[in-house]
Amino acid sequence: MTNKYMYFIANWKMFGGLNSLNSLHKVDRFLKNFKKNKSIKLIFCPPSTLIRPMSKKLINSRIEVGSQNCHENEDYGAFTGFVNSKMLKDVGAKYVILGHSENRKCGETNKLINLKVKSALKTGLKVIFCIGETLKEKKRKITNQILSKQIKFGLQKINKKKNILIAYEPVWSIGTGLIPKSKELFTTINFIKKKTKLNVIYGGSVNPKNIHELKSINNIDGFLIGGASQDPKKFIDIIKKTYN
Ligand code: PGA
Repeated sequence: MTNKYMYFIANWKMFGGLNSLNSLHKVDRFLKNFKKNKSIKLIFCPPSTLIRPMSKKLINSRIEVGSQNCHENEDYGAFTGFVNSKMLKDVGAKYVILGHSENRKCGETNKLINLKVKSALKTGLKVIFCIGETLKEKKRKITNQILSKQIKFGLQKINKKKNILIAYEPVWSIGTGLIPKSKELFTTINFIKKKTKLNVIYGGSVNPKNIHELKSINNIDGFLIGGASQDPKKFIDIIKKTYN
């Protein structure tokens, strides 16, 4: 592992209630005692309903809290059902995931995502910017074209990019148990890094079984973990195995 920090970001998606917070102390205790902890950035992105109680529980912890999306308008407004970056920051979020394929699938365009990124950065949140190709696009061998487009339009007119972290998540890999071939993944991460000069993490079916293979790809700066992050044992296992 040659990178300064390894990110382990838990994306809880639409899972979890107040009782899910009871297991947080396990991860916190593990991190406090883990000898490599100085090089780890550990971030939990729970549903918005849990951001405040989670932040409170993690007050003396190195674990940080993030959100899974935000509205593009950084001021309050008549937008029923939405929350903006200012509200998320107010309740303890430091990061926000934007451009996740599950949101793109619901109609979020590169243009809308760009507005969200700008608004989040302006508010002072760090952005986990998700990009990735579908299976159809992969089969048509247009992955790089798709990623380039998502980067170009999603990050358009943003000069200061230091608070952006890219999460490469092939859509066909999310929740399916499938991961890209190591060589392919190395090449794609390299492509994104050259293009953006930013840190790049990988997401899509990361679990304790495939982490050995994934960690050997030495240009990856960390992982965005969905399903496996809801089980503290699996999540801790992934971190441990990344280092041995
Ligand atoms: P997964 O989800 O680990 O369950 O595949 C990753 C993600 O959607 O961020």
